[in-house]
Amino acid sequence: MTRGERLTRRHFLTAATAVTGGVGAVAAAVPFVSSFRPSARAQALGAPVEVDVSKLEPGAVLKVEWRGRPIYVVHRTEEMLGMLGRDADLLADPDSAESIQPGYARNDHRSVQPRFLVVEGVCTHLGCAPLPRFEVAPADLGADWGGGFYCPCHGSTFDLAGRVFAGVPAPTNLPVPPYRYVNDSTLLIGADAGIA
Ligand code: FES
Repeated sequence: MTRGERLTRRHFLTAATAVTGGVGAVAAAVPFVSSFRPSARAQALGAPVEVDVSKLEPGAVLKVEWRGRPIYVVHRTEEMLGMLGRDADLLADPDSAESIQPGYARNDHRSVQPRFLVVEGVCTHLGCAPLPRFEVAPADLGADWGGGFYCPCHGSTFDLAGRVFAGVPAPTNLPVPPYRYVNDSTLLIGADAGIA
């Protein structure tokens, strides 16, 4: 049985009651920076969203909204990046061959620069919001959990690059939206890196 299957079995029946407690636990464990919101007009048009990551602490996640979808921007530490290769053989789509991302994010870290991950916070199973769970070996996810995203709805799990583990309901990795760097500390989400 894969790790994903074990987690799914353990969590599926209790997911409904675990959601509230899970959210609280995450809020305490992962610094969640307040959302940046574009103007209503920009949102309506689906305009790119500019995000300042200069104050995003290592290990923290920033939630923004683009085209009505939640986007997670994660400042990965060296330790978090080091975890990416550890579980490659447990992933359903380690090379992101079946998943949605721009070509420039189809790599081991699924990002333009390794340090910042940008993924949609939308589970590829039925669209719930996966929770950032960056702590290593928490009691509820098990001793072999190296950090990633956990969807409480039906127990899907993703690594720190948003790659889905085998044996869970979600079929593919978390999508990566188009984005590019305006400068070293500013991302433009919704603007493709291939477009100036
Ligand atoms: S929506 Fe079913 S596991 Fe995420």
